[in-house]
Amino acid sequence: MKKKIALITGITGQDGFLLAKFLIKKNYIVHGIKRRSSSLHSTVRLDSIYQDKFIKNQSLHLHYGDVSDAAFCCRILNETKPDELYHLAAQSHVAISFELPYYTASVNSLGTLNLLEAIRINKLEKITRFYNAGSSEMYGSLKGKFQNEKTPFCPQSPYATSKLFSYWMTKNYRESYKMFASNGILFNHESYSRGETFVTRKITLFVAKYNKSKENILYLGNLSSKRDWGYAGDYVEGMWKIIQHSKANDFVLATGKSYSVRDFLREAFKCININIIFNGKGSKEVGIDSKTKKIIVKSIPYYYRPNEVTNLVGDYSKAKKLLKWKPKTNFKELVKMMVESDIKESS
Ligand code: NAP
Ligand code: GDD
Repeated sequence: MKKKIALITGITGQDGFLLAKFLIKKNYIVHGIKRRSSSLHSTVRLDSIYQDKFIKNQSLHLHYGDVSDAAFCCRILNETKPDELYHLAAQSHVAISFELPYYTASVNSLGTLNLLEAIRINKLEKITRFYNAGSSEMYGSLKGKFQNEKTPFCPQSPYATSKLFSYWMTKNYRESYKMFASNGILFNHESYSRGETFVTRKITLFVAKYNKSKENILYLGNLSSKRDWGYAGDYVEGMWKIIQHSKANDFVLATGKSYSVRDFLREAFKCININIIFNGKGSKEVGIDSKTKKIIVKSIPYYYRPNEVTNLVGDYSKAKKLLKWKPKTNFKELVKMMVESDIKESS
């Protein structure tokens, strides 16, 4: 049987790597786009699945490129003619999007448009199924009990606004050109492979370091922020299910539970037998080791955002019903998995 071909933008990121691993296991031929970098560090996540260019029957092929380059997008679609295109590339850091709004918009919004146009220009509408990485950030702060596919969007950052453009373009191309183009509206998902500046990984890396040296203080922003945190491994399976569905559609993937940054800290320090207690409010709040009375966490204004999404909780019942998808990993298991992995890496 002919192997399916997948093209992944953002393959060097957390989700791209986990998805590539998942698809290779499913016997796909995977093409991935990597950006040119002055060091090899940007492809480090792919080390465990990397295959040399010159071996026969390779299942992973990497191409230099950038989604903000429309000519490149057109060429790579023409060369690979994928059955499935997973568009994950983005400037994905919300706080940084306030510093770099123009760059964030051009990569996240126009990057998506470049790929949709490349499918159309190459007349691949009937061949290539398109997945767009939408985000729960598009909702803004929680107003009701849950956020689902019917909840109105109210973006609160350049990142969220740029993602909303991509969301609507994906829907427009689906409706205008009968393309199989679906949006995943994914709530936060984490793993041992999460970028080091997202709050969960920043915490688990610190906990691993603290376990060794008991030195230093972890500086964070708003500890009261709440997120619906799931395991990225479960979510890449959800992306694949979205693309396998009989009809293009939009789906929320979430766990339905939200926890604060403070909760995450408590759980992570518990993994190294430290009970952390909190004192003070807002950007004056500190986390203290209950045994030694030493301050180990400080909230500081530097890490606060100009506009904070205070709480996100997803209702994934549509994905559960139509895709038979549900998260398999709970909050405690996720935190433990991340802390243990960082402890192992640091020893
Ligand atoms: P990530 O770890 O930050 O990875 C982003 C990827 O995009 C990296 O491979 C990066 O390449 C690549 N990239 C950035 N700009 C690019 C450009 N101009 N051209 C080509 N590639 C570019 O993000 P992630 O956590 O895996 O998330 C994947 C996608 O899902 C993103 O679109 C994100 O916004 C979205 N999302 C994530 C979550 C989540 O909780 N993780 C939730 C909802 C939505 P380099 O390695 O070279 O930087
Ligand atoms: N990054 C970071 N660093 N966040 C902090 C810190 C800190 O020092 N201190 C507190 N936070 C708070 C943020 O203000 C936010 O409320 C929460 O922790 C989570 O921040 P991030 O881990 O940076 O993730 P995010 O929720 O802003 O965005 C992630 O999830 C989105 C889906 O909801 C990213 O992966 C986005 O790409 C994704 O779309």
